[in-house]
Amino acid sequence: MKKMTLGLAAVALISAGGVQADPKADLEAFQGYFKKIFPEVPLEAYHDGIYALPAGQERAQNWKLLLDFPPYDDDVAKGEEMWNAPLKSGKSLADCFKDKPPANKYPYAKDGKVITLEADINACLKANGEEPIKDLKKGKIALLEVAFRKQFNGEKMAIDVSDPAMQKAYEEGKQYYWTKRGQLNFSCANCHVHNAGKKIRGDTLSAGLGQGTGFPVFRQKWNNKGKPWGTLHRRYGGCNKQVRAQPLKPQSHQYIALEVFQAYMNTGVPLKVPSLRQ
Ligand code: HEC
Repeated sequence: MKKMTLGLAAVALISAGGVQADPKADLEAFQGYFKKIFPEVPLEAYHDGIYALPAGQERAQNWKLLLDFPPYDDDVAKGEEMWNAPLKSGKSLADCFKDKPPANKYPYAKDGKVITLEADINACLKANGEEPIKDLKKGKIALLEVAFRKQFNGEKMAIDVSDPAMQKAYEEGKQYYWTKRGQLNFSCANCHVHNAGKKIRGDTLSAGLGQGTGFPVFRQKWNNKGKPWGTLHRRYGGCNKQVRAQPLKPQSHQYIALEVFQAYMNTGVPLKVPSLRQ
């Protein structure tokens, strides 16, 4: 019990915003908290969302069975084909990405701006004579992201937040993460930190740690509507709706900031792309 209180105090310190303007200290407090409440879960396992947690083990059995014949294999192959296909210029996205950072270092800063993978994909498409992709939540963008990111599976998250643009995004994302919103008046942390591993309306809540490292995901709930693939920002929108807050646009300033905060909190968690979710 005493340990638990210590963990909560450490997390409260991050949540106070500005008390610790030191990402490294935040990182230690955040990961330290999960280590205390889930001592049996190694850092490397957090890319599995709820299936990493003790409370998710029952569901994980069915999930593992499904993964023997993943429902997403054909789509993944299609994404890889698109990734390697020549664009109007004759070059492929694969060619264009030769000088880009590895997936575990996204988002990154360039010329004073925070660059996400979606932004780089669209910039490459434009530079090679193609129309940029408009739907940044589902479908083609997700398949292209899978094709890029899966090449780095096993690589541990290691984003650099030292650039001033990244620092600013980090602080904004952190603020967003701990701010209560919507009719239910819940922050991200209320569910994914303070109640991680607990049940809410029949769902087990995943830990905030590791979130994003398995994305894009193939989600059965989305598959029922014929659009199984989702980017991380699609999921952010869904979580905003859960608390009856207005979802923001994918690649909005706030969601990019949130992604930076989460990506930094995931330092050391290996990528595992794509993932299967309920
Ligand atoms: C009312 C509780 C609640 C709040 C508040 C909430 N979420 Fe969620 N979130 C869920 C539930 C339920 C799921 C599905 C089960 C799971 O994976 O945790 C989920 C899933 C996710 C996932 C997918 C995890 C994975 O690996 O599949 C991400 C990412 C996420 N939430 C991020 C956020 C962020 C960021 C916020 C704040 C903007 C937020 N959530 C706010 C309940 C919540």
